[in-house]
Amino acid sequence: MSLQEEQRLDAAFLMQTYGRKPVEFVRGDGIRLYDDTGAEYLDFLAGVGAVSVGHTNPRVVKAIQGQAEKLLHVSNYYYVEGRGALAQKLSGLLNRGLPADAATPWRTFFANSGAEAVEGAIKVARKYGAHRLEGASTVIAARRSFHGRTLAALAATGQHSKRDSFEPIPQGFVHVDLGDVHALKALLHQGIGGKAICALLLEVIQGEGGVYPCTEEYLHAARELTAETGALLMLDEVQTGFYRTGERPFAFQHYGIVPDVVTLAKGLGAGVPIGALCARGPAAETFEPGDHGSTFGGSPLAVAAANAVLDELEALDIGPQVAEVGAYLQQQLKRLPLVTEVRGRGLMVGIELSRPVAEQVVSAGLEHRLVLNSIGRHILRFLPPLVCTKADVDLLIERLQKIMEASE
Ligand SMILES: Cc1ncc(COP(=O)(O)O)c(C=O)c1O
Repeated sequence: MSLQEEQRLDAAFLMQTYGRKPVEFVRGDGIRLYDDTGAEYLDFLAGVGAVSVGHTNPRVVKAIQGQAEKLLHVSNYYYVEGRGALAQKLSGLLNRGLPADAATPWRTFFANSGAEAVEGAIKVARKYGAHRLEGASTVIAARRSFHGRTLAALAATGQHSKRDSFEPIPQGFVHVDLGDVHALKALLHQGIGGKAICALLLEVIQGEGGVYPCTEEYLHAARELTAETGALLMLDEVQTGFYRTGERPFAFQHYGIVPDVVTLAKGLGAGVPIGALCARGPAAETFEPGDHGSTFGGSPLAVAAANAVLDELEALDIGPQVAEVGAYLQQQLKRLPLVTEVRGRGLMVGIELSRPVAEQVVSAGLEHRLVLNSIGRHILRFLPPLVCTKADVDLLIERLQKIMEASE
């Protein structure tokens, strides 16, 4: 079907929740995408950070094909081949780098998306607060954060523009400025409106908000203060997880802290929908049979894909490559016209532009066969597949240089 026909049907029959770009991708290979006319693009967005091992990765394709021929779905009433092994792998990755005596096992609940993983985390926090913190029920989250589009995840999201049309949204959330240790300390110790705090929910690097990393000092304070008060430290690694930020599987591991709860999705399925809510210690024992569930979560297909993704990430030894190519990307981006700041880590990078032309750069990018992403009018975000090479970065920079010069 042609792009024009797709656009006509979309306009007539889909809810108009996205301002879509005028392109229809029909095929992918590694970092490359191909549209309906056969034109080749370099993908620096990777399905918003999801396609970790690249498009049509052979190991993942084979796993999906093999599973599709065997069994797609049975529900969570039964055991599923590979699901325990996947949770065990996640536990190992979450404990990576810890001395054996400090590594407590993690339990996982499988969901279908990042927002669902966050919803589950909020439920864990509420039940944990009710039972272990004398009814504490308020969750602290950060201004400018993003945690998903379901109602509780939206309530946690620190962006009014995404929340305000959906009032009344769930209560029991309070937002703080990322980096303000004093405000955090006061809230955790005193609560708010007579209500105590059951959890602190943070992104280690805010993604949708514009690529803003937590400082080392802030994350350490977050860990220490929550440990003091008993509140859970919940890190939303939906975007930062699975080597997105470099050497280590998860962003928190670069900071030498260990949270109580972690939410995951995107890179775990490399395009197949899957989310995961992981917890350790008492938080991991909060849910009991009947507390939470999902028809599709942890289905045979998603499990097979995710097992293949994790095996592939390890086989590629992707961490050092992401760190090296990411550092190169940052260094090259700094040399471009209009760029006033480069933020991020690994292959999660944002640049701040001196003029409000980010959206125009994204549109021009398509003409130069680049898949780009803007946040607001001043920020461009880069989230390529983790298999991105320095040669791919060179092509990006060459094309961006031309686009930026024309926008100056
Ligand atoms: C940090 C974070 N949490 C949650 C979500 C929501 O994930 P999903 O779109 O899979 O529901 C996102 C999506 O971008 C995210 O970046």
